[in-house]
Amino acid sequence: MTIRATTRTTPDTTPDTTPGTTPGMAMTRRQALRLLGLGAALSLPGCSALAGTPLPQLLASKAPLPAPYAVPLPLPAVAEPYRTDAGTDYYELVQRPAEVEILPGLRTPIRGYDGRFPGPTIRARSGRRTVVRVTNRLDAPTVTHLHGGHTPPESDGYPTDLVQPGTHRDHVYPLEQRAATLWYHDHRMDHTGPQVWRGLAGFFLVGDDEEEALPLPSGERDVPLLICDRSFNADGTMPYPSRHDGPGAREAFMGGVLGDVILVNGAPWPWLGVDRARYRLRLLNASNARTYELALSPGGVLTQIGSDGGLLAAPRPLRQVRLAPGERADVIVDFAAYRVGDRVELRNLLGEGPQARVLRFTVERDARDDSAIPATLSRVERLDPAKAEVTRDFEFTSGSLHGHTGWLINGRPFDAARVDARPKLGQVEVWRLTSDVAHPVHLHLAPFQVLSAGGERPGGPPEWKDTVELREAQTVEIITRFTGYRGRYVLHCHNLEHEDMAMMSTFEVI
Ligand code: C2O
Ligand code: CU
Ligand code: CU
Repeated sequence: MTIRATTRTTPDTTPDTTPGTTPGMAMTRRQALRLLGLGAALSLPGCSALAGTPLPQLLASKAPLPAPYAVPLPLPAVAEPYRTDAGTDYYELVQRPAEVEILPGLRTPIRGYDGRFPGPTIRARSGRRTVVRVTNRLDAPTVTHLHGGHTPPESDGYPTDLVQPGTHRDHVYPLEQRAATLWYHDHRMDHTGPQVWRGLAGFFLVGDDEEEALPLPSGERDVPLLICDRSFNADGTMPYPSRHDGPGAREAFMGGVLGDVILVNGAPWPWLGVDRARYRLRLLNASNARTYELALSPGGVLTQIGSDGGLLAAPRPLRQVRLAPGERADVIVDFAAYRVGDRVELRNLLGEGPQARVLRFTVERDARDDSAIPATLSRVERLDPAKAEVTRDFEFTSGSLHGHTGWLINGRPFDAARVDARPKLGQVEVWRLTSDVAHPVHLHLAPFQVLSAGGERPGGPPEWKDTVELREAQTVEIITRFTGYRGRYVLHCHNLEHEDMAMMSTFEVI
């Protein structure tokens, strides 16, 4: 295992001297493997360079899988502030155990914000201070993070900022950021996977004047869809691999836990009745480890208008939308393209059998539609790599540490006592992320733009992201500017089992 944390200070226009990289931004798969010290293995005939690196595993249900498209799509409750003053809205979310019916006829114990899964949706406003008090009525500590939030460090949900049972914490969100589809979820060190699996996640939608001025579908035609996979025991409980199941039980799933039931807003393969009109679907992949490639069947266009960090510059018509854990895409589907009575499935092209299904729309009636998709949605500034003052490398690999296999960044496991990078406030940096197997990488605080992935520069206008999927043996270069707050934040893999097995790194904005 090589350990490298190179920091290059510009003005340095000399070609990169990292072995195996080419000048500029490109890196091939072979070069990426060489960088990881896997180059030799790659040349062995018939042998995968990554053989032995654990991949996500299906945890099979013992309960019979429910019939698809038998239950209506639930919409998460919208939270009401308990207090509002001139500058601030105050919310409280109480984390508590509850029993809910997910599979018809079975009771499933969950841990939810307000006892719900998903938790209540918070609808907030850009620039309006929002305070969320999280009260822990569970039997274990929790941490709540607002994913995509531009948040001061003391409210960001650093993985060791525990809220103990019986106590609460006020999270202050200034929301000096664009309209976007955010979400909140548990972030407790070493326990995020099981705590999110059991239900601790919900939507947090930020609106602003720019977005509101657009004629996009709204009201009941603006539908948040939290997509995740879960498995069920015969008694309705949701199993999750743990040490207590015996030696090696947790390690067997260190590549990630996949469920065999796809839930949308907490319901298995639900259906939604729609008008022949445009709908805005806010797609969120809240799964622990499953990646989706979503497409309409029998065919149709998903017009993407937004990404993790809000509106795109211009709409992007797509046949399929790929979402790794943590990623969001706002898309518009025009059901006027179908006839009354048609059934339109949202399918997962990466899933097999039942896991290829997600949700089914039933086109119910003709209706008036005043919405439109403007050709220009927003202005998105392009961050210029020539302005980057520092380039850093982060390698996401599995590795052995004190006799245990775990997930490492630059050869090291997460340690809350160690700071791995110190970007300066206001500084533009390029971070070069390299993978062994696939890793969805998420950066707190600072939204970023992708400069290149696998050596290819994305075409079209720039977009703001906070999570990016590194495919197997790939290098992705991102550019970001650290603004707003000084303090400690994390960079981590959003495969929650990887995250819990230490694939996380602290950076401190100074
Ligand atoms: Cu959605 Cu640091 O997490
Ligand atoms: Cu985050
Ligand atoms: Cu990972």
